[in-house]
Amino acid sequence: MTAQQTELQYLPPDLKRELLPKHVAVIMDGNGRWAKHQGLPRIMGHKAGVDALKDLLRCCKDWGIEALTAYAFSTENWGRPHEEVDFLMTLFQRVLRQELREMVEENVQIRFVGNLSSLPRSLQAEISRAMEETKDNCGIKFTIATNYGGRQEIIQACRAIAQKVQQGLLQPDEIDEATFERHLYTIGICDPDLLIRTSGEMRVSNFLLWQIAYSEIYITDTLWPDFDRHEFHRALCAYQQRERRFGKV
Ligand code: IPE
Ligand code: IPE
Ligand code: MG
Repeated sequence: MTAQQTELQYLPPDLKRELLPKHVAVIMDGNGRWAKHQGLPRIMGHKAGVDALKDLLRCCKDWGIEALTAYAFSTENWGRPHEEVDFLMTLFQRVLRQELREMVEENVQIRFVGNLSSLPRSLQAEISRAMEETKDNCGIKFTIATNYGGRQEIIQACRAIAQKVQQGLLQPDEIDEATFERHLYTIGICDPDLLIRTSGEMRVSNFLLWQIAYSEIYITDTLWPDFDRHEFHRALCAYQQRERRFGKV
């Protein structure tokens, strides 16, 4: 570790602890372009992207951020060449298996959100194991959105609510924001305060559509595998300059 990196193990002095976001969500974009710039196949970008995510999780832990949610695979990403999709599924499974022990020891609570039932069976098994083994951990809440789509999440919540109404368990006029949130994949996780997207794209790509209603958005041109503590520090500085008004004056 360089001196500068050691320094960044602790919350940088220009960040105010009381103004840190409780929950940071990241759209980890730009792996493919990163690989292309290095003259490597796209999949190498995904491998490098895993290291960037591991570093960010550690950084969030070091700096006292309560929750981190990362967009790993969207419902639209099935449309990529099947070699890339296969590689990603295998990568998720391998990383989960390799990292689980450490995450248990580090008190990380892992959660996966998305339509998990259409993932490969072996990956589903690894996911269940990771969630089960870390469910009582009380450290950082680390959520990975896999086969996740914000619209699909909203639709499945509507279906579940409609069924309850049909069964007479719920009255239509009892449906409010709190009821709705209890039917989302993200039940029990507060809304993200800060949403970061790398690689300069100015869109949300079907991520957490309901939950980001009042998130502060930070977009950087940095490609995901290059997103490090210094970049995160920059994002948090920008966040701390924002005035969150929530519709008030
Ligand atoms: C993000 O990087 C990772 C996933 C969507 C799985 P991309 O693979 O989208 O990289 P670019 O956008 O093509 O550079
Ligand atoms: C968003 O990135 C999905 C993930 C980061 C998992 P994409 O690369 O799929 O988004 P678009 O296609 O540029 O909108
Ligand atoms: Mg992309």
